[in-house]
Amino acid sequence: MELFETINSRFSNRKFLEKQISDEDLSKILKAGMQAPVGRGKYEDMHITVIQNKTLLDEITNLADRSVFYNAPTLVIISAKDDGHGLDKENSACVAMNMLLGATALGLGSIYLNLVIGLIKEHRDILAKLNLPEGFVPIVGIGLGYADGSHIREHSIDVDYIK
Ligand SMILES: Cc1cc2nc3c(=O)[nH]c(=O)nc-3n(C[C@H](O)[C@H](O)[C@H](O)COP(=O)(O)O)c2cc1C
Repeated sequence: MELFETINSRFSNRKFLEKQISDEDLSKILKAGMQAPVGRGKYEDMHITVIQNKTLLDEITNLADRSVFYNAPTLVIISAKDDGHGLDKENSACVAMNMLLGATALGLGSIYLNLVIGLIKEHRDILAKLNLPEGFVPIVGIGLGYADGSHIREHSIDVDYIK
């Protein structure tokens, strides 16, 4: 898919099919995330967790009265370590955005998730199951899978031109 076509066709998918994505597609999406810009080039302060284990996914679903990751068969958690420069959120968002576009280019559904992060952090038993390295904190969740349907949307943001 051409880049602008990919950007324009990405949408937050909230209805996933049960079918799992291939390891090959997953690997391309993860690589896209790793190619993102990261402040001060500190890729060692970033960490990616891929959850495809049904038992753990069900446990996370059961933390709320609905699945906050919409039963996506793959849940990616991007974690970061704040080295004092406060770039952990920006870095995670950059990694996430590359993954969302990568997934779209492969014809997959995806969604950027914040709510799931709050829930995981609140439940220490679940957080422990992520087995994150010392000092890393979950920042962004991404749901990946096959979309059940598509969604056309166009957004706009006010622009001021100062010429
Ligand atoms: C920082 C951030 C947090 C978000 N958190 C959630 C979330 O927890 N749950 C959800 O359903 N969508 C979440 N979204 C998706 C937004 O609602 C969505 O991107 C926005 O409504 C625009 O729709 P689109 O992605 O389909 O273009 C989040 C998006 C961003 C950028």
